[in-house]
Amino acid sequence: MPDSLVTLAELTALIRHRRSIKPQDLDPAREVSAELVTELIENATWAPNHGLTEPWRFHVFQGEVRKELVSLMQQTYREVTPPAEFREDKLEKIGTNPLLAPVVIACVMERRGGAKIPAIEEMEAVACALQNLMLSATAAGLGSYWSSPPLLEGASFREFLKVGGEDRCVGLIYLGWPREGLKWPRSVRQPVASKIEWRATAHA
Ligand SMILES: Cc1cc2nc3c(=O)[nH]c(=O)nc-3n(C[C@H](O)[C@H](O)[C@H](O)COP(=O)(O)O)c2cc1C
Repeated sequence: MPDSLVTLAELTALIRHRRSIKPQDLDPAREVSAELVTELIENATWAPNHGLTEPWRFHVFQGEVRKELVSLMQQTYREVTPPAEFREDKLEKIGTNPLLAPVVIACVMERRGGAKIPAIEEMEAVACALQNLMLSATAAGLGSYWSSPPLLEGASFREFLKVGGEDRCVGLIYLGWPREGLKWPRSVRQPVASKIEWRATAHA
């Protein structure tokens, strides 16, 4: 058994290479196999979760059924958006994004721990799972993107996914192969020193 399966340098490279790749930057015509999607989701389920409640459910939309997803998203956008904030261009984008990505996964936090596990901890576990999923997608060469529009909280959308009273759809993960010629986006983070407060005691 090796000391580690991947080197820290390899893991660092993967983590820093992952970027949000928006649906317009994916190849809509290139399918992602069900086997690969299953493997990504299985990796998601290996995330830490308090009490092993595994508080997640993944609704995978591929092919024609994405049109149903689009229609529910547009309907819910109309329902939840105050008239002053309603935007036709946003409605249109909601209508096209899921059709540009060959796979859309609606990720739901399902409370399973009863009163013993606080809801926030179930949410935290799902966030860990989705990071696993996106890093796995990156390792496979896929683009991924986590979207969390307010409509996910709308009654019609919740009903569509059968989201229970205390449960939440935490996001849509868009997945697909990057379109030909895509310039991989760059991102930045603040210098890590600005995020650390060392509380170490100097040894005498
Ligand atoms: C919980 C969560 C929700 C997000 N929701 C959205 C969203 O609704 N729209 C969006 O454009 N990006 C969303 N993102 C993606 C972030 O905008 C993105 O991660 C950030 O810009 C950093 O870029 P990077 O992922 O390429 O490092 C979300 C990310 C997280 C973790």
